[in-house]
Amino acid sequence: MEYLNLGTSDLKVSRIGFGCCPMGGYGWGTVEEKDLKRSVDQALDGGVNFFDTADIYGLGVSEERLGNFLQKKRQHAVIATKFGVRQDSNGKTFYDNSPEWLDKALDASLNRLNTDYIDLYQIHYWDDQISLEKIFEHLDRKCQEGKIRFYGVTNVDLSKLEIELPKKLASFSFEYSLANREKESIVNEIIEKNRLSFFSWGSLGQGILSGKYDSSTSFGPEDRRGRSIYKNFHGDKFQENMNMLKKMELLISKSNSKSVSQLAIRWILDNIKSSVALIGIKEPQEIVDLVSTTNWKLTSEDLEYLDTISK
Ligand SMILES: NC(=O)c1ccc[n+]([C@@H]2O[C@H](COP(=O)([O-])OP(=O)(O)OC[C@H]3O[C@@H](n4cnc5c(N)ncnc54)[C@H](OP(=O)(O)O)[C@@H]3O)[C@@H](O)[C@H]2O)c1
Repeated sequence: MEYLNLGTSDLKVSRIGFGCCPMGGYGWGTVEEKDLKRSVDQALDGGVNFFDTADIYGLGVSEERLGNFLQKKRQHAVIATKFGVRQDSNGKTFYDNSPEWLDKALDASLNRLNTDYIDLYQIHYWDDQISLEKIFEHLDRKCQEGKIRFYGVTNVDLSKLEIELPKKLASFSFEYSLANREKESIVNEIIEKNRLSFFSWGSLGQGILSGKYDSSTSFGPEDRRGRSIYKNFHGDKFQENMNMLKKMELLISKSNSKSVSQLAIRWILDNIKSSVALIGIKEPQEIVDLVSTTNWKLTSEDLEYLDTISK
């Protein structure tokens, strides 16, 4: 496994991050509890120590399961969770970064995760009602209380921020993959200016970059990818992805013995040096496959080829 230190801290995380969105049991098709548990064990065995969840994933179910699965192995894991996305009584989603909600959400996460500290507490989405500076101040207080060790932001563009970033801010995250490079220049700009770690989410384009889907694929109502907002699986974008995957297969047949998903993840790790790739895991075999994306590098020719076909 490859590791990096989170931001400027001494907290070491694996560059393959176990995405716990499917662990919430909502919107990813069939997900079995026993497979998730075995996946967590396989991850730890393979050196993956970084787990990314959120209070909204399955409305707490993901955190609760992760807490159960880790139990006595807590000290071997680095847990990242998130707050700030809520649901009202009609199931409508809204953002809330208020200190009152943060206090409640954090205590609830600690309880569900069955732990007395969270390694990395992230602002899931910014509600734009309260300044980031104020939220950071409140998060600093939570660090002093010992409830969290570091904090991070996701889906927030820090490149425009005029303030000096706080010491305990360790990471930022955006959707990023061969299928979605929209945020690439912002990511590079933020990394150039600050010593923060970057986490890519949607690293496999929600699964399309596994190469196992084609035009005959249809998702059931219980799988979010059937909805048109999951662009990677619909319309022109789907076709573009299919064309790119064909070119990736060509590269594999010529010069590389890896799988398409391994190439897609290695490209992130090589393209953005201080990155961790987060991948949503449903089954043990998926994490085993991904552990093999570490301790080798793409050649500069392969990197250039992937760069060209994904632009
Ligand atoms: N901060 C944020 O706003 C935010 C937003 C989204 C996600 N995230 C985090 O990032 C993680 C990853 O993003 P994501 O789950 O949306 O998308 P993703 O990682 O691109 O795709 C996940 C899907 O890919 C498939 N897969 C995983 N490993 C595979 C392998 N080795 N071979 C083949 N297929 C594989 C699985 O689905 P199938 O097997 O069914 O294809 C899995 O559900 C999440 O779990 C979550 O922790 C954060």
